[in-house]
Amino acid sequence: MSQSTELFSRAQRVIPGGVNSPVRAFRAVGGTPRFIARASGAYLYDEDKVKYIDYVGSWGPMILGHAHPDVVFAIQDAAARGTSYGAPTALEVTFAEAITALYPSIEMVRAVSSGTEATMSAIRAARGYTGRDVIIKFEGCYHGHADFLLVKAGSGAATFGVPDSAGVPAKAAENTLTLPFNDKSALLRAFEARGTAIAAVIVEPVVGNMGCVAPHDGFLEAIVEVCKRNGAVSIFDEVMTGCRVAKSGMQGRVGIKPDMTCLGKIIGGGMPLAAYGGRRSIMETVAPLGPVYQAGTLSGNPIAVSAALATIKHLDDSLYEKLERLGAQIEAGLNAAIADAKIEACVQRVGSMFTLFMTRGPVNNWEDAKRSDTALFGRFHQGMLARGHYFPPAQFEAAFISGAHTEDDIANTVIAAREVLHSLRAAI
Ligand SMILES: Cc1ncc(COP(=O)(O)O)c(C=O)c1O
Repeated sequence: MSQSTELFSRAQRVIPGGVNSPVRAFRAVGGTPRFIARASGAYLYDEDKVKYIDYVGSWGPMILGHAHPDVVFAIQDAAARGTSYGAPTALEVTFAEAITALYPSIEMVRAVSSGTEATMSAIRAARGYTGRDVIIKFEGCYHGHADFLLVKAGSGAATFGVPDSAGVPAKAAENTLTLPFNDKSALLRAFEARGTAIAAVIVEPVVGNMGCVAPHDGFLEAIVEVCKRNGAVSIFDEVMTGCRVAKSGMQGRVGIKPDMTCLGKIIGGGMPLAAYGGRRSIMETVAPLGPVYQAGTLSGNPIAVSAALATIKHLDDSLYEKLERLGAQIEAGLNAAIADAKIEACVQRVGSMFTLFMTRGPVNNWEDAKRSDTALFGRFHQGMLARGHYFPPAQFEAAFISGAHTEDDIANTVIAAREVLHSLRAAI
């Protein structure tokens, strides 16, 4: 029996589903999750000493690759000075200055420990600032697991939210309005109908959580603009896209300024660190300056902030040029393999985040994404894993490339994908 199989059976006795976050259980693709023993650069090594080229990157944070020496040094160095003080540090000030420099829309920023806390707190601030309750989110966008954000849309017309998860009271979700992503007219209609009640619109500016879906030209601008006209707060959830699709996130890439931004993943350098921030007038409502309460024992933790600063130092133009080049290489290689195998699939990519959807594209929203053949994706995943290529274990996720990947890594992955897609075709 493999070490992973043995560990998984032990794990299932004491951890729900054997995992500390559901997607890790491989239920969407089948097979046994690999238990990872260590990681270095672009590679993961499991407990059975099998090596994988990693396209998950801890679900986004590892833009420099695993165990980057500067990040490891920063963590060790900080740990030797104490792991947590519960008091302000110089590091936190440097971190806040670095974030406000990278993101001109962020005039003030508060550090928290997870993306979930960042979005939950940003929405609390937006509600406190506007004195309104209703929020708009888009179908297929994931903003962490706060009660009022775990809401899926009714189809077609805008509908008020029904909770997506057991344990979420209907009341917690009833102020969440869910609209189709990329549907500007639905957004404008919602504001015509409810404009004075809407506190905020939250969006993944490139969606990663239904697979990689880019916004149509003008969609993000429309969100910012309609919020401004109606006194609502636009919130870009750049937990995934921040420092990923460009150093200054999607807002930097397209040149727009939302009222608020949520960050996580990369800005934590692989440690539990996230942040929310935005216009000074909104952030001044947050305690102790204002009446919106938000706090955290480990917020701005010195080890996490040290890892963050070491990571941010390496986010230069040459990194993003390399990521774009490798991204284009995998997109072209996978598309050619799909065409040769005559499989109904498409690749969608923005910079170094991408998804191979098992449906003919383009995928513009959740309705399109849902058409994917998830069973076929599961077999693709298993075939790739067996050949040493670790893709996200679910169709509706984005894959990531890091600065540690090489052209040879990508070329090897494309060769493997070609083999797997051909074998899937033969079996259809
Ligand atoms: C866009 C987005 N927002 C928020 C979150 C929640 O972050 P966390 O898992 O750190 O709570 C995620 C997590 O994947 C995310 O992708």
